[in-house]
Amino acid sequence: MERDEWNALWAKDGPHDRHHHDDHDGSDLRHHHGSTDPDELLVRLVDGQPVGRALELGCGLGANAIWLARQGWQVLAIDLSDVAIDRARKRAKDAGAEVEFQVADLRDQQLTRRYDLVTLFYLHLSAAERQSLLERAAQVLAPGGTLIFVGHDRSDTDWLERHLHGDHGQDQDAKPTNDQARQARQAELEATLTRPDEVAAELPGLHIERAEAVNHDAHGSGEEAATTVVVAIRRSGGSG
Ligand SMILES: C[S@@+](CC[C@H](N)C(=O)[O-])C[C@H]1O[C@@H](n2cnc3c(N)ncnc32)[C@H](O)[C@@H]1O
Repeated sequence: MERDEWNALWAKDGPHDRHHHDDHDGSDLRHHHGSTDPDELLVRLVDGQPVGRALELGCGLGANAIWLARQGWQVLAIDLSDVAIDRARKRAKDAGAEVEFQVADLRDQQLTRRYDLVTLFYLHLSAAERQSLLERAAQVLAPGGTLIFVGHDRSDTDWLERHLHGDHGQDQDAKPTNDQARQARQAELEATLTRPDEVAAELPGLHIERAEAVNHDAHGSGEEAATTVVVAIRRSGGSG
């Protein structure tokens, strides 16, 4: 998806991952990527680790970045959507968290500096784009650093169905209208989903600590779905 599409989603509630209840008092904020809570997997994997420099890729409204900053991490958080970044900056300010935010297209953004933690949560690019980004992300991982990849697993067929039916919060005009368009859209969507072993294979030079599909409640919606989780480490003093 392109910047204007993401901006349109973030100008509203954000992408809906699970069922969206259209109530009007804001109480459904936890049902999609607009949640102010960090991803529970991030908390579980990072809590208690010694803090350092963190790079959060595809940060959306910044919930993960803000949580990391509040734990003492020095965070650079990047997203394609300037609308998301504006909202994330405001949220960080309100939370009293210091996060460096940057608007950039990670499909071709050069990554610089070294990070002790690199996180990618639900940044669904095409396979080739993801491979290129993971290569760049691995390159900036400091010795001893950890890379965490979390995304919808290809076995989450519900996700695919919902997105095919345009139930992602996007413009209903984007819905495929004939079989051929539907097949093309399905192939496009499927290509953005992952399997743990594929992601692990895209991180040569890193030690794969964990690569599995788990049932995970992505945004506190109360519904679990198959999720690719890969945790990779750059071992100090050597590769793999
Ligand atoms: C599904 S949201 C996930 C947001 C957040 N990581 C979370 O877990 O809630 C995907 C985010 O990736 C961003 N994104 C998509 N394509 C991107 C690209 N090429 N470069 C940078 N960010 C991108 C979108 O703007 C969006 O904020």
